[in-house]
Amino acid sequence: MSQERGATIWFTGLSGAGKTTIARVVAEQLQLANLKVEILDGDLIRQHLAKELGFSHADRIENVRRIGFVADLLSRNGVIVLVAAIAPHRSIREELKQNSDKFLEVYVNSPLEVCERRDVKGLYAKARCGLIPNFTGIDMAYEVPLAPDLECQTDRETIAQSATKVLQKLVALDYIH
Ligand code: PPS
Ligand code: MG
Repeated sequence: MSQERGATIWFTGLSGAGKTTIARVVAEQLQLANLKVEILDGDLIRQHLAKELGFSHADRIENVRRIGFVADLLSRNGVIVLVAAIAPHRSIREELKQNSDKFLEVYVNSPLEVCERRDVKGLYAKARCGLIPNFTGIDMAYEVPLAPDLECQTDRETIAQSATKVLQKLVALDYIH
């Protein structure tokens, strides 16, 4: 009998950078290869597991810790967990990385002005009008990863290219084979 560990792939980056989109494409590819996959998306987690949390520094830390906890439970049981959550604080990302033996930090990098131009959910416009306080990149800092395991530059590469980079990295690290 054998049971392989899974892994946590954490897509961090500004709102609208492409975290969810890349995670979904990677998940599809992994599922095609019959691997066990779950996506933990900040937007969805906040409707269920973190309903009472807002976007203050403390609430974000708590949200990220909860997501990290669930990701750990799943990955211990052989699931490849794709997290799409901003996790703007370097220290908590580092903490998660230290406490997990298979953890990949993927920086989904797109300049603020590009994310703002995309404004897929109309949140930047609202944030600029002061309707959403503590908006990442506007009036709350996003701490850029200093040494991510991988960087996807979504203003310069296609979603397919970014997803392929992630899959190649997982193979290179022997997280999947
Ligand atoms: S965090 O920082 O990791 O706790 O955030 P996360 O759980 O990923 O939630 C981010 C999504 O919440 C929406 N939203 C906001 N984002 C940033 N700042 C503020 N103030 C905010 N308010 C609501 C937004 O849809 C984020 O989703 P993405 O996919 O990042 O755009
Ligand atoms: Mg998203």
